[in-house]
Amino acid sequence: VNMLVGPKPLQGKRVLVTAGGTIERIDPVRYITNDSSGKMGFAIAEAARNRGAEVTLICGRTDAAAPNGMRIVRVDSALQMYDAVMSNLPNTDVIVKAAAVADYRPLHQEEHKMKKTSEALTLELTRNPDILQAVGDWNADQLDADKLFVIGFAAETMDVEKHALDKLNRKKCDLIVANNVAAAGAGFGTETNIVSVYASEGLVEHIPQMTKKAVAERLWDIAQARMNRLND
Ligand code: CTP
Ligand code: CA
Repeated sequence: VNMLVGPKPLQGKRVLVTAGGTIERIDPVRYITNDSSGKMGFAIAEAARNRGAEVTLICGRTDAAAPNGMRIVRVDSALQMYDAVMSNLPNTDVIVKAAAVADYRPLHQEEHKMKKTSEALTLELTRNPDILQAVGDWNADQLDADKLFVIGFAAETMDVEKHALDKLNRKKCDLIVANNVAAAGAGFGTETNIVSVYASEGLVEHIPQMTKKAVAERLWDIAQARMNRLND
Protein backbone atom coordinates (compact mmCIF):
# COMPACT_ATOMS: atom_id res chain seq x y z
CA VAL A 1 0.00 0.00 0.00
CA ASN A 2 1.13 3.52 -0.71
CA MET A 3 1.19 5.29 2.64
CA LEU A 4 1.89 8.72 1.15
CA VAL A 5 -0.94 11.16 1.62
CA GLY A 6 -1.17 14.72 0.38
CA PRO A 7 1.18 16.43 -2.05
CA LYS A 8 4.74 15.20 -2.36
CA PRO A 9 7.18 17.37 -0.40
CA LEU A 10 9.06 18.77 -3.41
CA GLN A 11 6.01 19.08 -5.68
CA GLY A 12 6.31 22.25 -7.74
CA LYS A 13 10.01 22.73 -6.97
CA ARG A 14 12.46 23.00 -9.84
CA VAL A 15 15.63 21.26 -8.72
CA LEU A 16 18.96 21.51 -10.56
CA VAL A 17 21.58 18.89 -9.69
CA THR A 18 25.13 18.70 -11.04
CA ALA A 19 26.88 15.35 -10.87
CA GLY A 20 30.01 13.57 -12.03
CA GLY A 21 33.47 14.77 -12.88
CA THR A 22 34.47 17.16 -15.60
CA ILE A 23 36.76 16.27 -18.48
CA GLU A 24 39.47 18.76 -19.37
CA ARG A 25 40.91 18.03 -22.81
CA ILE A 26 44.63 18.04 -23.54
CA ASP A 27 44.35 16.90 -27.15
CA PRO A 28 41.77 14.92 -29.20
CA VAL A 29 42.53 11.64 -27.40
CA ARG A 30 43.68 12.71 -23.92
CA TYR A 31 42.12 14.46 -20.98
CA ILE A 32 42.34 15.19 -17.27
CA THR A 33 39.53 14.05 -14.99
CA ASN A 34 38.98 12.86 -11.40
CA ASP A 35 37.61 9.87 -9.50
CA SER A 36 34.01 11.10 -9.19
CA SER A 37 31.50 8.36 -10.06
CA GLY A 38 28.42 10.62 -10.13
CA LYS A 39 26.61 8.27 -7.71
CA MET A 40 25.97 10.84 -4.97
CA GLY A 41 24.56 13.40 -7.42
CA PHE A 42 22.43 10.78 -9.17
CA ALA A 43 21.02 9.60 -5.83
CA ILE A 44 20.15 13.21 -4.93
CA ALA A 45 18.47 13.77 -8.31
CA GLU A 46 16.45 10.54 -8.03
CA ALA A 47 15.36 11.27 -4.48
CA ALA A 48 14.18 14.75 -5.55
CA ARG A 49 12.26 13.25 -8.49
CA ASN A 50 10.60 10.74 -6.14
CA ARG A 51 9.57 13.62 -3.88
CA GLY A 52 7.78 15.29 -6.77
CA ALA A 53 10.39 17.80 -7.97
CA GLU A 54 10.93 18.73 -11.61
CA VAL A 55 14.60 17.77 -11.92
CA THR A 56 17.32 18.90 -14.30
CA LEU A 57 20.54 16.88 -14.03
CA ILE A 58 23.68 18.47 -15.45
CA CYS A 59 26.00 15.61 -15.79
CA GLY A 60 29.71 15.31 -16.51
CA ARG A 61 31.66 12.06 -16.81
CA THR A 62 30.07 9.32 -14.69
CA ASP A 63 30.21 5.55 -14.19
CA ALA A 64 26.53 5.03 -13.41
CA ALA A 65 23.61 4.84 -15.85
CA ALA A 66 21.60 8.06 -16.08
CA PRO A 67 18.35 8.07 -14.09
CA ASN A 68 14.89 8.30 -15.68
CA GLY A 69 12.17 10.87 -15.20
CA MET A 70 14.27 14.00 -15.42
CA ARG A 71 15.85 16.34 -17.95
CA ILE A 72 19.50 15.41 -18.51
CA VAL A 73 22.08 17.82 -19.88
CA ARG A 74 25.41 16.19 -20.74
CA VAL A 75 28.60 18.22 -20.50
CA ASP A 76 32.30 17.48 -20.65
CA SER A 77 34.33 20.40 -19.32
CA ALA A 78 33.97 22.79 -16.41
CA LEU A 79 33.44 25.63 -18.90
CA GLN A 80 30.52 23.74 -20.47
CA MET A 81 29.10 22.94 -17.03
CA TYR A 82 29.40 26.61 -16.10
CA ASP A 83 27.35 27.67 -19.15
CA ALA A 84 24.73 24.95 -18.58
CA VAL A 85 24.30 25.83 -14.90
CA MET A 86 24.19 29.61 -15.32
CA SER A 87 21.68 29.48 -18.18
CA ASN A 88 19.34 27.32 -16.04
CA LEU A 89 19.42 29.47 -12.89
CA PRO A 90 16.37 31.63 -13.72
CA ASN A 91 14.26 28.45 -13.94
CA THR A 92 15.54 26.89 -10.72
CA ASP A 93 14.36 26.90 -7.10
CA VAL A 94 16.97 24.62 -5.53
CA ILE A 95 20.46 23.80 -6.77
CA VAL A 96 22.65 20.95 -5.53
CA LYS A 97 26.25 21.11 -6.71
CA ALA A 98 27.48 17.56 -6.25
CA ALA A 99 29.74 17.61 -9.34
CA ALA A 100 33.49 17.27 -8.97
CA VAL A 101 34.54 20.20 -11.12
CA ALA A 102 38.18 20.23 -12.20
CA ASP A 103 39.88 23.23 -10.63
CA TYR A 104 42.24 23.60 -13.61
CA ARG A 105 42.21 22.87 -17.32
CA PRO A 106 45.06 22.74 -19.84
CA LEU A 107 45.86 26.27 -20.95
CA HIS A 108 46.11 25.12 -24.56
CA GLN A 109 43.99 22.41 -26.15
CA GLU A 110 46.03 20.83 -28.95
CA GLU A 111 44.13 20.41 -32.19
CA HIS A 112 46.15 17.33 -33.13
CA LYS A 113 47.31 14.38 -31.07
CA MET A 114 50.51 15.41 -29.34
CA LYS A 115 53.75 13.75 -30.44
CA LYS A 116 56.37 12.55 -27.98
CA THR A 117 59.22 14.74 -29.07
CA SER A 118 60.92 15.50 -25.75
CA GLU A 119 62.15 13.50 -22.71
CA ALA A 120 60.01 15.53 -20.33
CA LEU A 121 56.76 17.38 -20.78
CA THR A 122 55.25 20.14 -18.68
CA LEU A 123 51.55 20.72 -19.04
CA GLU A 124 50.48 24.27 -18.32
CA LEU A 125 47.14 24.55 -16.54
CA THR A 126 44.85 27.50 -15.94
CA ARG A 127 42.10 27.97 -13.33
CA ASN A 128 38.54 27.04 -14.20
CA PRO A 129 35.73 29.35 -13.11
CA ASP A 130 34.20 28.36 -9.78
CA ILE A 131 30.62 27.53 -10.73
CA LEU A 132 29.27 27.39 -7.18
CA GLN A 133 30.88 30.75 -6.43
CA ALA A 134 29.19 32.23 -9.51
CA VAL A 135 25.84 30.75 -8.41
CA GLY A 136 26.24 32.19 -4.91
CA ASP A 137 27.17 35.62 -6.25
CA TRP A 138 24.25 35.57 -8.73
CA ASN A 139 21.89 34.56 -5.94
CA ALA A 140 23.05 37.35 -3.65
CA ASP A 141 21.85 39.86 -6.27
CA GLN A 142 18.33 38.40 -6.53
CA LEU A 143 15.28 39.72 -4.67
CA ASP A 144 14.46 37.60 -1.61
CA ALA A 145 11.40 36.08 -3.32
CA ASP A 146 13.55 34.95 -6.27
CA LYS A 147 16.46 33.50 -4.32
CA LEU A 148 17.51 29.92 -4.91
CA PHE A 149 18.21 27.50 -2.10
CA VAL A 150 21.87 26.61 -2.68
CA ILE A 151 23.42 23.34 -1.52
CA GLY A 152 27.16 22.96 -2.11
CA PHE A 153 29.56 20.13 -1.45
CA ALA A 154 33.02 20.18 0.04
CA ALA A 155 35.49 17.38 -0.64
CA GLU A 156 38.17 17.42 2.04
CA THR A 157 40.85 15.16 3.43
CA MET A 158 41.68 17.22 6.57
CA ASP A 159 40.22 20.00 8.76
CA VAL A 160 36.83 19.16 7.22
CA GLU A 161 34.70 21.51 9.33
CA LYS A 162 36.99 24.52 8.94
CA HIS A 163 37.23 24.17 5.15
CA ALA A 164 33.53 23.39 4.76
CA LEU A 165 32.42 26.47 6.71
CA ASP A 166 34.89 28.60 4.78
CA LYS A 167 33.41 27.35 1.46
CA LEU A 168 29.84 27.81 2.72
CA ASN A 169 30.48 31.47 3.56
CA ARG A 170 32.62 32.30 0.55
CA LYS A 171 30.25 30.66 -1.96
CA LYS A 172 27.11 31.93 -0.15
CA CYS A 173 25.48 28.50 0.24
CA ASP A 174 22.46 27.73 2.42
CA LEU A 175 23.88 24.30 3.21
CA ILE A 176 27.19 22.61 2.56
CA VAL A 177 27.66 18.86 2.54
CA ALA A 178 31.17 18.00 3.67
CA ASN A 179 32.66 14.77 2.63
CA ASN A 180 35.91 13.32 3.99
CA VAL A 181 37.03 11.77 0.72
CA ALA A 182 39.95 10.02 2.42
CA ALA A 183 37.77 8.08 4.91
CA ALA A 184 36.89 4.42 4.24
CA GLY A 185 33.25 4.07 3.13
CA ALA A 186 33.05 7.67 1.94
CA GLY A 187 33.79 9.78 -1.08
CA PHE A 188 34.54 9.02 -4.69
CA GLY A 189 33.31 5.82 -6.28
CA THR A 190 32.01 4.12 -3.11
CA GLU A 191 28.40 2.91 -2.65
CA THR A 192 28.21 4.53 0.78
CA ASN A 193 29.04 7.94 2.10
CA ILE A 194 29.70 9.68 5.42
CA VAL A 195 28.95 13.40 5.43
CA SER A 196 28.47 16.35 7.75
CA VAL A 197 25.96 19.02 6.81
CA TYR A 198 26.70 22.62 7.78
CA ALA A 199 24.76 25.87 7.66
CA SER A 200 25.98 29.35 8.54
CA GLU A 201 25.36 28.70 12.25
CA GLY A 202 27.54 25.56 12.19
CA LEU A 203 26.97 21.80 12.17
CA VAL A 204 23.38 20.85 11.27
CA GLU A 205 23.76 17.10 11.25
CA HIS A 206 26.38 14.40 10.98
CA ILE A 207 25.14 11.62 8.69
CA PRO A 208 26.94 8.39 9.58
CA GLN A 209 27.94 5.78 6.99
CA MET A 210 24.95 4.74 4.88
CA THR A 211 24.20 4.16 1.21
CA LYS A 212 24.35 7.21 -1.04
CA LYS A 213 20.59 6.75 -1.63
CA ALA A 214 19.94 6.95 2.12
CA VAL A 215 22.24 9.97 2.45
CA ALA A 216 20.28 11.64 -0.37
CA GLU A 217 16.96 11.08 1.43
CA ARG A 218 18.38 12.50 4.67
CA LEU A 219 19.76 15.54 2.80
CA TRP A 220 16.34 16.32 1.34
CA ASP A 221 14.72 15.97 4.79
CA ILE A 222 17.19 18.56 6.11
CA ALA A 223 16.85 20.88 3.09
CA GLN A 224 13.03 20.74 3.07
CA ALA A 225 12.82 21.64 6.76
CA ARG A 226 15.04 24.68 6.19
CA MET A 227 13.31 25.77 2.97
CA ASN A 228 9.93 25.65 4.74
CA ARG A 229 11.35 27.74 7.56
CA LEU A 230 12.51 30.38 5.05
CA ASN A 231 9.04 30.45 3.49
CA ASP A 232 7.22 30.94 6.83
N1 CTP B 1 32.93 23.83 -7.48
C1 CTP B 1 32.46 24.49 -8.60
N2 CTP B 1 33.33 24.93 -9.56
C2 CTP B 1 34.66 24.73 -9.42
C3 CTP B 1 35.15 24.05 -8.29
C4 CTP B 1 34.26 23.62 -7.33
O1 CTP B 1 31.25 24.68 -8.71
N3 CTP B 1 35.48 25.17 -10.38
C5 CTP B 1 31.96 23.41 -6.46
C6 CTP B 1 31.84 21.90 -6.29
O2 CTP B 1 30.83 21.40 -7.16
C7 CTP B 1 31.42 21.77 -4.84
C8 CTP B 1 32.10 22.96 -4.18
O3 CTP B 1 32.39 23.89 -5.22
O4 CTP B 1 30.02 21.92 -4.67
C9 CTP B 1 33.35 22.65 -3.42
O5 CTP B 1 34.28 21.99 -4.25
P1 CTP B 1 35.70 21.63 -3.66
O6 CTP B 1 36.54 21.02 -4.70
O7 CTP B 1 35.50 20.90 -2.36
O8 CTP B 1 36.25 23.08 -3.24
P2 CTP B 1 37.07 24.18 -4.02
O9 CTP B 1 36.35 25.46 -3.79
O10 CTP B 1 37.34 23.78 -5.42
O11 CTP B 1 38.41 24.28 -3.18
P3 CTP B 1 39.64 23.22 -3.07
O12 CTP B 1 39.49 22.18 -4.15
O13 CTP B 1 40.86 24.07 -3.21
O14 CTP B 1 39.51 22.61 -1.67
CA1 CA C 1 38.24 21.74 -6.04
